[in-house]
Amino acid sequence: MTRLYHVRTYGCQMNLHDSEKVENLLHHAGWRAAAGPEDADLLLINTCSIREKAEHRLGSDLGALRDWRSAAPGRVLGVGGCVAQQEGDALLRRFPHLDFVFGTHNVRRVPELAEAAGSGIRHAVTEESRSLERFDQPERHPEFPARTPGRAWLTVMEGCDLFCSFCIVPRTRGREISRPAAAILAEARRLEASGVRELTLLGQTVNAYGRHATRRGPDPETGSVPFAWLLRQLDALPGVARLRYLSPHPMFFDEELVRAHAEVESLQPHVHLPLQSGSDRVLARMRRRYDVARYLGLVERLRAARPDIALTTDLIVGFPGETRADFQETLRAVREVAFADSYSFKYSARPGTAAAAFDERVPPEEAQDRLEELQALQRALTLGYHRGRVGETAEVLVEGPSRRAEATLEEPLPQLQGRDAYHRVVNFRAPAALTPGSLVRLALVEATPHSLLGELPDVQPGPLLADENPRPTGPV
Ligand code: SAH
Ligand code: SF4
Ligand code: F3S
Repeated sequence: MTRLYHVRTYGCQMNLHDSEKVENLLHHAGWRAAAGPEDADLLLINTCSIREKAEHRLGSDLGALRDWRSAAPGRVLGVGGCVAQQEGDALLRRFPHLDFVFGTHNVRRVPELAEAAGSGIRHAVTEESRSLERFDQPERHPEFPARTPGRAWLTVMEGCDLFCSFCIVPRTRGREISRPAAAILAEARRLEASGVRELTLLGQTVNAYGRHATRRGPDPETGSVPFAWLLRQLDALPGVARLRYLSPHPMFFDEELVRAHAEVESLQPHVHLPLQSGSDRVLARMRRRYDVARYLGLVERLRAARPDIALTTDLIVGFPGETRADFQETLRAVREVAFADSYSFKYSARPGTAAAAFDERVPPEEAQDRLEELQALQRALTLGYHRGRVGETAEVLVEGPSRRAEATLEEPLPQLQGRDAYHRVVNFRAPAALTPGSLVRLALVEATPHSLLGELPDVQPGPLLADENPRPTGPV
């Protein structure tokens, strides 16, 4: 009988991508996807520990899964990701019904660990690996369909050496390591041949890519190359119409990378550029290695290279010692840059980080007030940004049904959702034949706080799609 797995994923794109890798490996080992946990023989939780709340979720999930584990003989429960990396076999001791633990550098060992668990062997594998092979993946298994048709993530580097004082990631993803350019290009070509139109390069500080190796000179075969060089090589792939990267750090924007935004055609006009705080005093205590003037200077350079570029950011409120005046400076910087969108978080102390030992804690109610004020400002800015876009024509990569997907009597066409070049969500009604992964040109007709509303120029029949660059039909 076919054995079935189910994976539950928390956290960032790198974690979502790791889950994809695990699922693909399980397919190659003969497992298939279950419809849900109830049907699964193997259940994996891929965890995140960026904030306390994310970490606590694992405890409650595992508590709730005690009954799942014992409800049928032979069921196996595994935990991976950032909490697994930190806790290791302590998790096995704390949760006797947990079968195995795999760290962020050990996704390739999951099939073997699941097998061993079937024979009653409980393992925690969390060693950090400097091996570049750990990034290599087998071809996508023919029975493992892409969840994001037309789009794919591609890991170019992992780990972080910056140790911002609030952040757990250097402790969960290890030291910075860049993949050889040759391996990245080979993977990109494979993705292109399978119909991928949009590639998002991933790394914790993705634009630090190659910075260690390039001191010895670029060498695509054995080492790494400058990040901007990599972008230009990927731009040369004709099937890949869109290139993105996530998450860059403001200190690694050299002139080459800024110029790439003016010159590299497939590089999309959007950068997610984490600011964290608008106060120099707080930025210094966060150990972010830039001040507000330098960040604003970078914004100016990017806008000079690509005037329509959309910028989004991450912000933390209530960092230890953040005064009301510091917070006002964050509001001021956010207003000044006029971010198209931002993700903001209340500071959460993480074990082992430098800031966890800082006193001058901001009271939780005060942090909550600041968060709400910041988010209200962002809502207004996002709406303003969206309003400014109404009347434009946008090229949208179709992702699938929107949240309000159903057709109604008045609206006989289902509503779809996609993203434009600036990474904004665009909802639109279109014939069901329009498949996820295709590119369409839409007129933007309405702005809402969270998305744009688009219209096909004419919904009734004919070749209305802007898909001038049809999917390659080569081998998958
Ligand atoms: N590498 C990226 C950040 C990845 S973590 C960078 O350098 O910008 C994603 C976001 O989570 C961060 O940008 C930060 O805003 C938030 N974050 C990280 N640690 C946090 C903490 N301890 N408390 C609250 N938010 C945090
Ligand atoms: Fe964390 Fe800072 Fe590294 Fe980003 S750069 S992952 S915030 S330590
Ligand atoms: Fe979370 Fe780890 Fe990503 S802590 S944000 S899953 S790198």
